[in-house]
Amino acid sequence: MGDKKILSIGLVCLDIINVVDKYPEEDTDTRCLSQRWQSGGNASNTCTVLSLLGDSDIAYGSLQYLSVCCTSFIVGDFARRGVDISGVAWQQWGETPCACCVVCPTNGPRTVVLSDTNLPDVSVEDFSKVDLSQYKWIHWEGRNADEQVKMIERAREYNSKQEEKNRITISVEIEKTREPLYQLFPLGDLVFVSKDVAQHFGFTSAAAALKGFYGRLRKGATLICAWAEKGADAMGPDGVIIHSDAFPPEKLVDTLGAGDTFNASVIYSLSNGSSLQDALTFGCQIAGKKCGVHGYDGIL
Ligand code: FRU
Repeated sequence: MGDKKILSIGLVCLDIINVVDKYPEEDTDTRCLSQRWQSGGNASNTCTVLSLLGDSDIAYGSLQYLSVCCTSFIVGDFARRGVDISGVAWQQWGETPCACCVVCPTNGPRTVVLSDTNLPDVSVEDFSKVDLSQYKWIHWEGRNADEQVKMIERAREYNSKQEEKNRITISVEIEKTREPLYQLFPLGDLVFVSKDVAQHFGFTSAAAALKGFYGRLRKGATLICAWAEKGADAMGPDGVIIHSDAFPPEKLVDTLGAGDTFNASVIYSLSNGSSLQDALTFGCQIAGKKCGVHGYDGIL
């Protein structure tokens, strides 16, 4: 039981990150300060952060089977970080997704253009091959929601046959404003809803979003909403709103993946027995640190 793992399901891609001193104007030709390749995608970033925090975890996005250079880069990066990719759903066709990212340290924000065209997402069939007894926690980034609903059903069915201590905690992230993703609200034991989705529904604060969305959750579940520099709020089954302020770094340099860092840190903390308040505070602390460094190394 002690060495059970955390499984993260969602996007794995290559991020090509251009660091600029000023966001480029359209139809200009400028030089960046630096450029780097980095493994990216919410599922991958979750694994990267979990491995830095010291948990054993598994990446389980889809990666292209062909040995193109960007796939080998991602695989090499996972190997270096000790992320177990034995569960990856290898695809025989399609392009590994790739994002061109612009990060501007002088004012913080990141801009991402993602090419994610034809690589099949992890399917319920892929998921049926996974030995669930290895895991204590499975996290789904909301993507191909119709399939994900069926995967979660399988995990719930597994849970129904287990003693409490062997049950898998199920978390979902609803980050994008896409209608099909909202069917995931009632499926997680823990649900992360983004500021974007909250604002799309007309909520102007994390607390308002929690009150507005909580009724969509399953009984006993917890809802978390992070709100950038305003920190994050959470609501559990007792209906009490818990808050943590943000921990902004002295200098904001790179916010790419800050949300994934927050989610991973909360999952790490809760899966190691922390209270909701402590997990929320830890999530904000580590996400804040991430915003003060380029990439993920150095978030501790
Ligand atoms: C950050 C991130 C990047 C990726 C983009 C995809 O949350 O996962 O790594 O390029 O979002 O939307």
